[in-house]
Amino acid sequence: MTARASGLVPALRPGFCQLWWASARDAHPLLRGLLDEGERARGDLLRQPTARALHLTAHALARTVAAAHLGVPAGELELTATCKRCGGPHGKPRPPRPLGLSWSHSGDRVVVALALGTEVGVDVERIAPFAPETAERVLCGPELTVLAALPATRRPAGFVRYWTRKEALLKSTGDGLSVAPELLHVTAPDAWPRLLSWEGPERPRLPLYLYDLDAGAGHLAALASVGTPVRPTRHDGSALLAAVVTSADAPGTCDPTLLTSERPLAS
Ligand SMILES: CC(C)(COP(=O)(O)OP(=O)(O)OC[C@H]1O[C@@H](n2cnc3c(N)ncnc32)[C@H](O)[C@@H]1OP(=O)(O)O)[C@@H](O)C(=O)NCCC(=O)NCCS
Repeated sequence: MTARASGLVPALRPGFCQLWWASARDAHPLLRGLLDEGERARGDLLRQPTARALHLTAHALARTVAAAHLGVPAGELELTATCKRCGGPHGKPRPPRPLGLSWSHSGDRVVVALALGTEVGVDVERIAPFAPETAERVLCGPELTVLAALPATRRPAGFVRYWTRKEALLKSTGDGLSVAPELLHVTAPDAWPRLLSWEGPERPRLPLYLYDLDAGAGHLAALASVGTPVRPTRHDGSALLAAVVTSADAPGTCDPTLLTSERPLAS
């Protein structure tokens, strides 16, 4: 099946970032056929059913959309995840160029971000109470002062806003949490999202751009792009995965032209 011919995956244009939203409820056993052996094995190691469902949904959705843009069957998409630190297979997901890709899962939300010609990082988190030690570990001095000045009822959301912005930035560069989040200073939760400073030798040379996303009730999310700003667009990943499940006997072998209404990037 193709998500593009039926118009389910609109063409990805330079300067835009597609955000595909789905949930743990979209996980379906048939979608396992889209994942490679390593992804399936890592998913099987997760003990909690919800964590397994989030993993399957994120990987299947990312593969479906990236493959549709590149014009290859999702099961054949080359997706590496080499760790910047140790070279192991647990780092930033990288599809063939020119696609930039990132995904995140938390609570029951899954979000997949794709952009053209720029690396992106996305993070979604459920708003929940946090331990003061956690805030001290990930926020820098000025951020802790802002957080402490917030009314107590607004502090959990304030902390999660900081956290999603920092994690989106760290995921956009592929550093992840191997760089201490406290080295980054971002604007206050109510202010326009922006990276103010990044201390230390890992500071990226290119400018980073930051966006808050609407993640629905009880969740916050942020997106970062490297080197060039992007305009985020919102897409229904649940509907896309449902279409993949219902229309394909073997999702991994889907004809990519089904998913797109326009010529894929590779053609
Ligand atoms: C990646 C990381 C930020 C994830 O945070 P999280 O809030 O638990 O999870 P999220 O749902 O937001 O993101 C998970 C996804 O981030 C991606 N990811 C992993 N490492 C990444 C990195 N260095 N940069 C960007 N993205 C990364 C993966 O796609 C992962 O998905 P998967 O677990 O389904 O395979 C964090 O766990 C991390 O940085 N871990 C690695 C730390 C490290 O590099 N240590 C050194 C190891 S040698």
